[in-house]
Amino acid sequence: MSVLTETYVLSNGVKIPKVGFGTWQVPNGEVAYNAVSYALKVGYRHVDTAYVYGNEESVGKAIRESGIPRNEIFVTSKLPADVKTYDGTLDYFERTMKNLGLDYLDLYLIHWPWPWNEKGKDYKKENIDVWRAMEKLNTEGRIRAIGVSNFDVEYLQVLLDNSEIKPMVNQIKFFIGNTQEEITQFCQKNGILVEAYSPLATGRLINNGAIQKIADKYHKTVAQICLRYVLQRNVLPLPKSTTPARIEENAKLDFEIAPEDMEYLNNLTDTVQA
Ligand SMILES: NC(=O)c1ccc[n+]([C@@H]2O[C@H](COP(=O)([O-])OP(=O)(O)OC[C@H]3O[C@@H](n4cnc5c(N)ncnc54)[C@H](OP(=O)(O)O)[C@@H]3O)[C@@H](O)[C@H]2O)c1
Repeated sequence: MSVLTETYVLSNGVKIPKVGFGTWQVPNGEVAYNAVSYALKVGYRHVDTAYVYGNEESVGKAIRESGIPRNEIFVTSKLPADVKTYDGTLDYFERTMKNLGLDYLDLYLIHWPWPWNEKGKDYKKENIDVWRAMEKLNTEGRIRAIGVSNFDVEYLQVLLDNSEIKPMVNQIKFFIGNTQEEITQFCQKNGILVEAYSPLATGRLINNGAIQKIADKYHKTVAQICLRYVLQRNVLPLPKSTTPARIEENAKLDFEIAPEDMEYLNNLTDTVQA
């Protein structure tokens, strides 16, 4: 069985393919359509987009025209960070569904705890309102699973204390040397699946000499070590590429990093030059 068809199981029993295809900075139109089509062709069954990526239309078109049954593809999108009301959430969800041209969504995430230009301001109360709308959409069957992104422990705890349905996912920046241990461990203890965005540090890990040493040992590429590392931390990697050869390379993860090498990778710091 390929890692592309293996699944994690969310707290509500929904199965989620262990590797997702990232689409941030992939322009709407031919580029997004071709990238997602190619990813699906080589076996990816999980696609990650967001309203603000501006490419939901082409992502949805590639999914609809893939010839793969809808229920075999796991589709994630995200509520814009600036939307912090109950009604706004319902409204933007409909916009996303219209863009995608799909009947239901597999996973919907609150993109950030705060509006983009108000980072750090207290939006805890507003997130509870947003979450109520997410719960409604989940209960009505419009979304199979709901979660958050970029939430720290404090923000997660507020939702855990004020929700009927617990968040099933937290999508955070996670790569070798940046594993956000406090958040990751809190999530894993509370049955919240951690998804790793920027698992290659948006490409900046590719020239890392320390990871290259491990890659040479396993006859793999640095990208493959970075992604396999994420999987062995029980986290879900979301690699992005618009290059066909790399899309394929990033899916060849059926090997095992030995415990001592995981330990070595766990201890790497400053993996990305500022
Ligand atoms: N929730 C959030 O706030 C948030 C934030 C950031 C990202 N994300 C999600 O996470 C996904 C991944 O993160 P990311 O886009 O930052 O980047 P990433 O997957 O860490 O890295 C992508 C970059 O690495 C290059 N690359 C990919 N595979 C490679 C390989 N095998 N060898 C060499 N270079 C390779 C890509 O180039 P080419 O494309 O040119 O091949 C691209 O420049 C996003 O697309 C998005 O879906 C979410």
